[in-house]
Amino acid sequence: MDIKELRDLALKEVLGAKNLEELEKLEIKYLGRKGSLTEVLKQLKELSEEMRGQIGAAANQLKHELASTLERRKKEIKAVFEEKKEWVDISAPGHKLAKGHLNPLTLILRKVEEIFQSLGFSVVQGPELETDFYNFEALNVPKDHPARDMQDTFYIDEEHVLRTQTSPMQVRYMEKHQPPLRVIVPGRVFRRDATDASHDCQFYQIEGLMVDKEISVGNFKAVILEFFKRLYGQEVKIRLRPSFFPFTEPSFEVDMACSVCGGKGCKVCAHSGWLEMAGAGMVHPFVFKSAGYTPGDWQGFAFGIGLDRITMMKYKINDIRLLNFGDLRFLKQF
Ligand code: PHE
Repeated sequence: MDIKELRDLALKEVLGAKNLEELEKLEIKYLGRKGSLTEVLKQLKELSEEMRGQIGAAANQLKHELASTLERRKKEIKAVFEEKKEWVDISAPGHKLAKGHLNPLTLILRKVEEIFQSLGFSVVQGPELETDFYNFEALNVPKDHPARDMQDTFYIDEEHVLRTQTSPMQVRYMEKHQPPLRVIVPGRVFRRDATDASHDCQFYQIEGLMVDKEISVGNFKAVILEFFKRLYGQEVKIRLRPSFFPFTEPSFEVDMACSVCGGKGCKVCAHSGWLEMAGAGMVHPFVFKSAGYTPGDWQGFAFGIGLDRITMMKYKINDIRLLNFGDLRFLKQF
């Protein structure tokens, strides 16, 4: 191959190189210790003086030309890469931010608060970490009561528990306020329960308390029926079933016909057709005394509604545990 051919080929390859790696290979191929041009220069000494002068000059010129072309091409390639790095395509579609969704419990709680507020109730909150006194003792649950069994209660230490109910706020609120009063207390409660489709170790309650001079079970029934009617947008079937709570007398359970199965029986209602929605009763004189009231002066009703249950009934959700997973595929349906 003569110098001219070598030049044509080398320049063509160098100018056609697409990246620095290719360039480096070409540099070695032509100018490296064993490169084609280097070989030509090495062989000069075997030529006649005349030829040596001629070819030597041409080869040296090519060497310089190739070196500077390589350098130029290197700069060009670098410039293209630099440019690419800073290239902003302002017409490219943006990244979509994943949006969250309100939990159905939140949606229902807002509705619940709105209904009770329109019935004259205030909304207040209490601590999730409660003292043994407010969670139990002030509510007429003495030390040996079965409700205090370790299986039901998360004890933090001897004096503190994760509240097992929102009822402690009855006493806390009455200590600071005088009747007549109407409040609801929404909040999370905790129990060491085995979990299944209708039980979780944490769930939400809405405590209700109304105290005045003449309050009866009739007042409670009217309030709770009106509440259910407004929440579900239609008359609902409920029943008051005699029950026992240490802090109410008399006490009852408020059952509602299961809306998941329409009362026929399913896993949510344990195949009974009814779901326990709330515990309730007339405030026990012991509780008035705990709050510093004179028991004979006042009457009141109290209730604790399971927020999870009324939410499940509203949306026909068949497993309480879904409410705490935060799975958007679930949440986005509401
Ligand atoms: N605190 C009771 C429970 O968690 C419910 C309740 C509240 C009962 C108020 C009566 C009055 O089961």
